[in-house]
Amino acid sequence: MAAIETFPTEPFPTFPDDFVWGTATASYQIEGAHDIDGKGMSIWDTFSHTPGKIQTGENGDIACDHYNRWETDLDLMAQLGVNAYRFSVSWPRIIPTGRGKVEQRGLDFYSRLVDGMLERGIAPYLTLYHWDLPQPLGDQGGWKERSTAEAFADYAGVVAESLGDRVAGWITLNEPFVAANYGYALGMHAPGEFLLTGVFPVVHHLLLGHGLAVQALRAAGVGPIGITNNLAPVWALDPDSEADQAAAERLDAVYNKQFVEPVLLGHHPEGYEELYVGSDFSVVQDGDLEIISEPIEFFGVNYYAPQQVKGATADNPLGFELTPITGYPTTSFDWPIVPQAFTDLLVGLHDTYGEKLPPMYVTENGCSAVDEVAGDGEVHDEDRIAYLDSHLRAIADARAAGADVRGYFCWSFMDNFEWAEGFSQRFGLVHVDFDTQVRTPKDSFAWYRDVAIASPNLKTADSEGK
Ligand code: FCB
Repeated sequence: MAAIETFPTEPFPTFPDDFVWGTATASYQIEGAHDIDGKGMSIWDTFSHTPGKIQTGENGDIACDHYNRWETDLDLMAQLGVNAYRFSVSWPRIIPTGRGKVEQRGLDFYSRLVDGMLERGIAPYLTLYHWDLPQPLGDQGGWKERSTAEAFADYAGVVAESLGDRVAGWITLNEPFVAANYGYALGMHAPGEFLLTGVFPVVHHLLLGHGLAVQALRAAGVGPIGITNNLAPVWALDPDSEADQAAAERLDAVYNKQFVEPVLLGHHPEGYEELYVGSDFSVVQDGDLEIISEPIEFFGVNYYAPQQVKGATADNPLGFELTPITGYPTTSFDWPIVPQAFTDLLVGLHDTYGEKLPPMYVTENGCSAVDEVAGDGEVHDEDRIAYLDSHLRAIADARAAGADVRGYFCWSFMDNFEWAEGFSQRFGLVHVDFDTQVRTPKDSFAWYRDVAIASPNLKTADSEGK
């Protein structure tokens, strides 16, 4: 990670007293115990066990062993001082074959986990789908099939019935853009298909699954309910080039609008058929968009970095070509660090969608770095502190410009299985030694506790009423 040259000297901004300060993880990335207590296989178990799919050849069989270590992990989280924790439920732990028979031991695990959070004063924010689809549903076509969306709603109802009295916030899907495009269009994630622009049915069924799950959660009387999208400003390489501008609009439609407009406005983005050449559009049935646009109470935004494109050559069906953003420091993932783009994104959502946009929560934000335990036994991750500091300032700026952002969940609580990158990208506030499972809070852990989370208590005159 390149050094960030200047460190801000202005005082850390104030946030309201009721701001949600959290941290986030996902089931497949931390739990391990992939075949314990009746859990079924997920598409990520299959994918990570397929040679060549994970760059490091690793898998999530053990990961952070959180399934066995959850109590001490929650103790550490209590020391971090967060008032909320975003975790995800593994669908194949609850319904091993995807539909039908429920595995009580799976529900019991999450019930203990939720109770453990509440005992420590941490509000549970539950994600129903963070990509670990039961393999039997994958075998039947996964999200290419409408029946997967229907099975998802049944699963949502089962989880709501078991945990509904204790969960502070419900997130249906995590990043359907990534689930659809990395998983089914570009083959980089499970299940590893290469549909390219034929991916529209997957997109539609994920969105339909969201809407049906909202209905199921509502019927169970639980809430508040939201969805989490990864969103990003899209830049044209040369803003004066018409081809680059058109490419940027195209990626903006596929990346952002495709997952915001159906949910908030009740329609697929204008011209969507041209974005998905060769797709089957008959999957959109009467009434689907009413289901997809069921009202929700909050909008989850994951932000890491902006995107940049240039016009594509005629033989490129996508109609855009990603180009690296230069001139900014980068994380160890080579993602450019551009906090201003975060402000632009949040303010842009507020300005574009107005009253249709429910209150926003930043459900993920953070950076990977090459973190090592130093000779003094500590992990000195100044780069992460600088990243978090600048991005929280970006949120404060967006709030000052009118964006209604009510909470922040730092990705991630601890280093974990970073999908196709294996364990090579460390995002945690807590360092994990994957050989010994020893946890070491990094310097950023203390910074988040003492500077960021402490900030609401630093009342100043101009923070009143914000
Ligand atoms: C997001 C994922 C999350 C994590 C971060 C780095 O796209 O939701 O699981 O991998 O990226």
